[in-house]
Amino acid sequence: RICPDMLINGPIDANPYSIRLNSDGRTGAVAAISAQPPESFSASLLRSLLLLLLLLQSDTFDESCESGGMENENETNTEPVEAEVNPWEVSGKIDYDKLIDKFGCQRLDQSLIDRVHRLTSRPPHVFLRRGVFFAHRDLNEILDAYERGDKFYLYTGRGPSSEALHLGHLVPFMFTKYLQDAFKVPLVIQLTDDEKCMWKNLSVEESQRLARENAKDIIACGFDITRTFIFSDFDYVGGAFYKNMVKVSKCVTYNKVVGIFGFTGEDHIGKVSFPPVQAVPSFPSSFPHLFSGKENLRCLIPCAIDQDPYFRMTRDVAPRIGYHKPALIESSFFPALQGDTGKMSASDPNSAIYVTDTPKEIKDKINKYAFTGGQDTKEKQRLYGANLEVDIPVKYLSFFLDDDDELEYIKQEYGSGRMLTFDVKKRLIDLLTELVERHKRARATVTEEMVDAFMAARPLPSMFS
Ligand code: TYM
Ligand code: TRP
Repeated sequence: RICPDMLINGPIDANPYSIRLNSDGRTGAVAAISAQPPESFSASLLRSLLLLLLLLQSDTFDESCESGGMENENETNTEPVEAEVNPWEVSGKIDYDKLIDKFGCQRLDQSLIDRVHRLTSRPPHVFLRRGVFFAHRDLNEILDAYERGDKFYLYTGRGPSSEALHLGHLVPFMFTKYLQDAFKVPLVIQLTDDEKCMWKNLSVEESQRLARENAKDIIACGFDITRTFIFSDFDYVGGAFYKNMVKVSKCVTYNKVVGIFGFTGEDHIGKVSFPPVQAVPSFPSSFPHLFSGKENLRCLIPCAIDQDPYFRMTRDVAPRIGYHKPALIESSFFPALQGDTGKMSASDPNSAIYVTDTPKEIKDKINKYAFTGGQDTKEKQRLYGANLEVDIPVKYLSFFLDDDDELEYIKQEYGSGRMLTFDVKKRLIDLLTELVERHKRARATVTEEMVDAFMAARPLPSMFS
């Protein structure tokens, strides 16, 4: 397969762990060139023409590469923005097709979604139907095994960096709950209070407190206590879990961890030594009270694609220490209110809607900050319609509005100018207010005893039934 990016960057980005990608709003080809030292407009034009020729001659490049390379040709923006996707930073205009190529994961195509549908006898979750979860690693192997009657377990997590979750965090947890219900499998949820203590300048005690608060929001998503174990690293790491960490650590050189995560000589050694902590919940032997005697069980990890570097490392190491590679199912990012570059992030409160926001806060944030593709006057909107590609209210609706027909209707009417931004925002405000209020009601029923019960290291005798 030849991609525009590979033609230019092949030798430079040959490292499979490279986590930077060049991407801007224009053609992939030009972007890739001008992300190197800047050159004159005519020189870059010449180069892109050459590249176009090369591409036209090649009959081996696949369709996704082709459209990634051609579709935005007419845009005039000349400054390349480098998209950054790693566990600590997501910024720039992300091209998810390119990301799949860079990271080396697989696209989650319709045939896999149909297979999930068949195997679970349930309609696929809206996040599958709409392509929110768009990439995977070895999901087919999990499904093959499941079809033969072998179960698996789910693993996901949260780095407790804020008091409450925002809507972006709900994406993997809502989806994980659907997977747990559909496949009837056990689930482990890691709260990396140690990670946030080291990265966010939080005290040990404060990170642990946030982990417990976040656990309440997670429990409020409706997980089944007979199949779910939630743990804090500070409390749980030790024993079999720690033995696996040491096994993993011995297989990862300093150079490799720098290559994957981009650490520098100024980063403290806590950061360098953290990745094995997030790696080993992928191995059943890390949880003897759950999986003793089931060390061959496979693991499936739902997460957003920013977490992929951890699991590339994990999958690299697994066979060397005699374990299965974990499989992954990965989502795109729920975008910030300000627009579709980067993700909704807890570090910028105006970019995010929290599950604790009041109806008034939700209304004000959407009205004030949500970037729209609508025209700036009523007359122009009636005439030209909205640009749905950049419109945040429509993006948000496509995550959370379950009704396919209503979504299609809104897109039609708004895109053609018959519907105004005000009305679309109003529909979104109603929808999110209801979602957040429902979440608040569920969270209010979560007691300290329930948190203790979910977090107790215990066997789960009926976790597969
Ligand atoms: P954290 O706390 O940053 O994020 C928790 C989960 O939410 C996903 N996420 C998003 N998904 C969609 N749109 C967004 N805007 C958005 N922002 C965050 C993250 O990808 C993640 O799935 N180191 C991890 C904690 C962790 C973990 C794991 C996550 C430990 N083990 C295993 C996933 C799987 C962290 O800090 O996540
Ligand atoms: N996954 C699709 C892509 O790569 C589209 C997509 C990304 C999407 N995030 C989404 C669709 C959220 C609906 C909602 O372009």
